[in-house]
Amino acid sequence: MNLDDVYQDLILDHYKSPRCKGVLLNPDRKVDLNNPLCGDQISLTLKFSGDTIAEIAFDGHGCSISQAAASIMSELLRGKSREEARRLSALFRKMIKSEVDGDALNDLGDALALEGVKRHSARIKCALLAWDCIDRGLSETPHASLREEMPK
Ligand code: FES
Repeated sequence: MNLDDVYQDLILDHYKSPRCKGVLLNPDRKVDLNNPLCGDQISLTLKFSGDTIAEIAFDGHGCSISQAAASIMSELLRGKSREEARRLSALFRKMIKSEVDGDALNDLGDALALEGVKRHSARIKCALLAWDCIDRGLSETPHASLREEMPK
């Protein structure tokens, strides 16, 4: 079994048995985004404790990449500070844009399984859908709820 097979298995595992799936009651932030190219959708709910992401959950539907990415991201960011979550989001984007590789990516944990997406430009929006949700959820915008489409 090569590394690609391991990563494929990890993605399928998160797709079939998603972590942090659901909708939080009375969230501090709720962000709904869809990929207008395919209609796939993610709804992210967040609760903060001070500066920490105390609870995070996602719901939605879509391709295995978008849903596995949401599961992996939610598990990774639960318990992280806002600043650390922003840093990891920026690191994930750099990975997908092929700007960083190797040991510099270790902090991404299971999200490293999605590195191969950078070679398939049509799937990049799939992998970023959940991360676009968290970026909006961490923004200082005072709205409790955001609903919008990703730019085409
Ligand atoms: Fe829709 Fe992947 S095909 S997000």
